This record gives sequence, structure tokens and C-alpha cells, in this order.
Amino acid sequence: MIEIATSATTTWSPDSWRRFPVAQMPSYPDPAALASADKQLAAWPPLIFGREAATLRERLAAVSRGKAFLLQGGDCAESFDELSAGTVRDSFRVILQMAVLLTFAASCPVVKIGRMAGQYAKPRSSDAETVDGVSLPSYRGDIVNGAEFSPEARMADPQRLLRAYSHSAATLNLLRAMAQGGFADLHEVHRWTSDFVRHSPQGERFEAVAQSIEEALAFMEACGFDASSSPQVKEVEFYTSHEALHLHYEEALTRRDDATGRWYGGSAHMLWLGERTRSLDGAHVEYMRGIDNPIGCKLGPNAKPDDLLRLLDTLNPGNVEGRMVLITRMGADLLAERLPALIAAVQREQRSVVWCCDPMHGNTVTTSAGVKTRDFPRILAEVRSFFDVHAAAGSYAGGVHFEMTGQDVTECTGGAQGLTEAGLQARYLSACDPRLNGSQSLELAFLVAEMLKARRRG
Ligand code: PEP
Ligand code: CO
Repeated sequence: MIEIATSATTTWSPDSWRRFPVAQMPSYPDPAALASADKQLAAWPPLIFGREAATLRERLAAVSRGKAFLLQGGDCAESFDELSAGTVRDSFRVILQMAVLLTFAASCPVVKIGRMAGQYAKPRSSDAETVDGVSLPSYRGDIVNGAEFSPEARMADPQRLLRAYSHSAATLNLLRAMAQGGFADLHEVHRWTSDFVRHSPQGERFEAVAQSIEEALAFMEACGFDASSSPQVKEVEFYTSHEALHLHYEEALTRRDDATGRWYGGSAHMLWLGERTRSLDGAHVEYMRGIDNPIGCKLGPNAKPDDLLRLLDTLNPGNVEGRMVLITRMGADLLAERLPALIAAVQREQRSVVWCCDPMHGNTVTTSAGVKTRDFPRILAEVRSFFDVHAAAGSYAGGVHFEMTGQDVTECTGGAQGLTEAGLQARYLSACDPRLNGSQSLELAFLVAEMLKARRRG
């Protein structure tokens, strides 16, 4: 008789996922080299501590109660070659700008999470890519292989796991320095605008908000409030996240917290399951159920309410607040039709979740020239629909999840800049999906801020 492993019959351990069918994993030609990379990673320090993940869970618990808002954003895929002080700083400061606009509009705390410092693994719809009759393994993100279309680049290389770790560590080091070392001080709000955004309509609109913040700070200080000793003004809490796709990487960085004895994923504060790896009897769900970090789960238009409830049973049996972030990505056309049944199931069973909207992945199209893009009005339409559906159901629209960058790229069409399909080629740099550029990100933040303000006024 064949024994079928299920999460109900399996004792969890960091490697128990290995007994389950695993989707989206590359095949490595040299298993010994893979095992040796795993061993090296397991010997290195974790990138985050369990206590930090627990604090993030508390912040997300506030979101689930309608007392805060979640902003999650960053590259679709980080790339080894693109890592520099400039790219990290630019994305970080756009997220800060977006967050400050939302905080200002909604007068509620904004929980900031980057898709950064570990977003190196990508799920693919096909194992192989064929160009001019030549088939090679698909590019699966820099943690697995190279994007270039050559047999050497596309070979899965375990040494890349170690490079992903070192690039993540370098990124996180800079993020921590910027978050706590003065860069994120609210007195510096004028400096967060990059040069190419400064003279755009969004840049000018942001300056007006920055001016109000500066005046509010000056007023508070004149009243005797000591901003220099207030961490809320001088620092930001910034968290990291990525899709927990490469389970060798995640397993090797799993650690036990000395204080609590609980396991946590040491690669990022929050990890998420992708639309293609949330299968209930799959290895990814098995891995995630045993770690204590906040867990995201992407939900596409075909997600079934019963499957969602069973996922919540497995991943959050204690219905712990702040543990689960449900990230819907249904597309602007389908969301209003498909989301209500999921919300109703969660409400009926009284599950505590954070509802978050990813308006990117359901709105990807390929142009006649073969370029992957997303249209700004469609992205906005999905966010609007998300707020409307939740309001109608008496549910709290808790956050947004964007693929964005601080760089001046031309990857998504539309927006105030009026980017057209013909203009996409100018600076299309994404290693994977098309991202909002710095101006489009700000523009979207202004529009979301208006929705938050309208909601606050009831
Ligand atoms: C992603 O977030 O880049 C992604 C692949 O999303 P999804 O799992 O929703 O398709
Ligand atoms: Co993507």
C-alpha cells in the first residue's frame, strides 16, 4: 500500500515538505552540489529574528481589526545584476512616499512590507521555453538560473542559492540602515522624491503634502513635542517578504527561536504562497504550516471558498490574528463576481484574516509586439472594485500589494505620464513582470489615499 502524506498525518519539521509533491521546483543536475549549498546556508545566520516576525504579526493583527492598513510592494523579481545602493534606495523611498500619503489621508498606521531582500524565485507556467525551435528550461529567477537564453545560463545552479542569500543580506542591511539611520526621518520627507518625479504633477502634489507634514511637525515641536526623541518620527518599521517558492532555501534558513521554542522562516519577516503553489496537499503548504511568520496566500479568480477554509484550517488552526494575509489577484473584470463568496465564507466561519489586493497579476496582457504589460486604469479599477466589494460585504479592505520600483522604467501603460504601448521599449528593465514606475506608484498611492479618506468619512 502506498502511504500518502497529508499535513494531518505528518509531524512537521523544516524538511517534512520533502514527503509531499512539490510544484515549481527546478531539477538540479548535481544533487550533491545542491545538498552542499543547503548545508552552507543552514550554517549561516538567519536574516531576520523570530521576534521581528512576531511584531509584524501584531501589526497585521491591527490591520485585521480595521485599525491599520498594509502596503506591500517591490519588484516582481529582484535580480543579482540590478542590486545597487541606488535601486534599493529608490524603491524604499517610493514605498515611504506612498506610505506617508496613505497615513496622512487615512490617519491610520500603515504597515510597510517590501517585496525585497529575497524575492529571487519565480513560478513559471511552463517548464521550458522555446525560441526559434530551440527548447531550454524556463528562467525561474536568479536564485535558480540565468535569464539569458543559453543552455549554460538556464542550467539550475545550486551556487545561486548562496548568492541569493548574500544579495538578500546586503539589501536588508541597507534597508535596516535607511529605516533606522535617519533617511526615513519625517523631517527628511522632502528628500524622498527622486529627480525624475520631482517636476511631474505627482512630484508637485507630493511636495504639497510634504509641506503640510513639515508644518505639522514644526507646530508640534513649538508646542513642546520632542521629535528628536520620538522613534515614530525618526525611524520607520520596515519589513521584508518574498514568495516562499524555493523550499531548499527556506528550509535551510528555518530556525528555532530560543525564547519561545517555535520555528520561524529566517529568510524574511513574511512569506507568501503563490497562486500556483497553494495546493492543499502540496509541499509548499506543508512547509508554511510549521513556521510562525505571518503567511500570505495569493488567491486567483478560481479560488474556491471551501479550499480557502481548508487552507486556513491547515495554516492557521488557532485562528491567530495577524497570521494570514489573503492577497486576492483576480483581475479587474472578475473580482466583483468572485471575491464575495470568499469573503462570505471567511465571515461565516469567523476567521481572522487581512484582506489585501494585488491588482497586478490578474491584469497582465501581452501586446501585439509580444511585450508583457499592465494598463494603469485596469490596475486602478481592480483596487476600486476591491474596496467596493469589501464595503458592500461589511468587510475591511486591509491593504494593497504592488509590483513597483523607484526607477524610471516604462513597463506599465497609462497613468498621468500617458505611457503608450509604443513607449514601452524605452526603459523596459523588469526581469519578470511589468512594474509601476516611481510616478505611477505615487499616482496610485494618491488614488488609494482618496479611497481611504472616503472610507474614513463613512
Ligand atoms: C508574483 O507575485 O510575482 C506572482 C507570481 O504572483 P501569483 O502567485 O499571484 O501569480
Ligand atoms: Co509578478
